[in-house]
Amino acid sequence: MDSVTKIIFVIFESLFMDTLSPKIRQLNFHGLKIEKKERLTKTVFMMDLVIPQNLQAKFTFLAGQYITVKYASGDDIYYHDFSIATAPHEGFIRFAVKINSEKSSSNYLFNNYNEGDILEISEPHGRFTLASKPHEFRTIVGFAAGIGITPILSHIKHLLHSESRTRIYLFYGNRSRQEVVFKSEIEMLVKQHPGRLHVYYFFSQDSASSGLFRGRLDAPKLDLIINQILHTDDTDEEATLWDAVDEVLICGKGEMIKELANACFHHGIPKKNIHFELFESFNDDIYPQEKEFPLIENISINFKLNQNNYTTTLPNNRFRVLQQLLAQKFPVPYSCKSGICGICECKVVKGQVELLENEYLTEKEEQNGQILACMAVPMSDNLELNFDPD
Ligand code: FES
Repeated sequence: MDSVTKIIFVIFESLFMDTLSPKIRQLNFHGLKIEKKERLTKTVFMMDLVIPQNLQAKFTFLAGQYITVKYASGDDIYYHDFSIATAPHEGFIRFAVKINSEKSSSNYLFNNYNEGDILEISEPHGRFTLASKPHEFRTIVGFAAGIGITPILSHIKHLLHSESRTRIYLFYGNRSRQEVVFKSEIEMLVKQHPGRLHVYYFFSQDSASSGLFRGRLDAPKLDLIINQILHTDDTDEEATLWDAVDEVLICGKGEMIKELANACFHHGIPKKNIHFELFESFNDDIYPQEKEFPLIENISINFKLNQNNYTTTLPNNRFRVLQQLLAQKFPVPYSCKSGICGICECKVVKGQVELLENEYLTEKEEQNGQILACMAVPMSDNLELNFDPD
């Protein structure tokens, strides 16, 4: 799978409607004009899309959300998610794409769509968002790697624009200086907001950088950042800057998110204040699962998906629902398998499950019986699920 930005779904025309996940089927697409296309680095380009007057309401978005771009290449149709790099007040959509290889779908997008062309774009969606608190004095820390800067840049611009007292610390990792995406825009923001936006660059393969700023963003690096950068807080002599952190935003590949999220948690940030956006499929848990469950065997399960009804038996509850159904080759939708993307969302119609981790569902959705199949452990010997929207 191309790991350009978030997730790509490749669908063959003949199977088209049957293979789409319920989440993708629910998306509404509109044709938006490409106003600008620009190469940002050797392997990254960006596109700006105009939102016409009649679609303004449908394209209202929150900082941190993403769009799905639908485009055809030969017999394939791609559904490709890209985080929005602009803030809501900027009034247009910008997204950045990393080209991993000449044969990748992203390279096709770069070579075949130009300024003036129309792209099929979904209405914005996604939950890598923050509640707005314009009257508070907040400290927000962001960790981004490579192209993972896009949703964090959207947050930064939105926070600087809408929360006059909030300060932001961005730790941005890349392999080399040449690969820093949106460098001039970030530097401009630092200049325009002295004392409110602090940016530190880290390079894993740059011989000119040294000490703290050399290497990847990982758990040992976080220790150094806390001790060497986020120490004395000028606004509070009793505390450190790290003590003041209200929210943490992390965006990049799964391993980096896992390491930094756990490190932030061990350094005292509650899980509910650690937000992450995954830029590739990831088959691991972000936080370790240590809970033991009473053994239940021969679990009979019925589920509805894309208007089809399926019945099977799960051997036991040692593994989660999604993983067991995939092992039995059922076409259940998934992407991250880590409780982040929401693609495997379904409703418990009958029976009980325990949800191990949930970065996606709201409290209301959980109360309504919605679960994430990838994080659900069966807790009854009879289960009925519905993957189709109500
Ligand atoms: S597959 Fe992403 S939340 Fe379950």
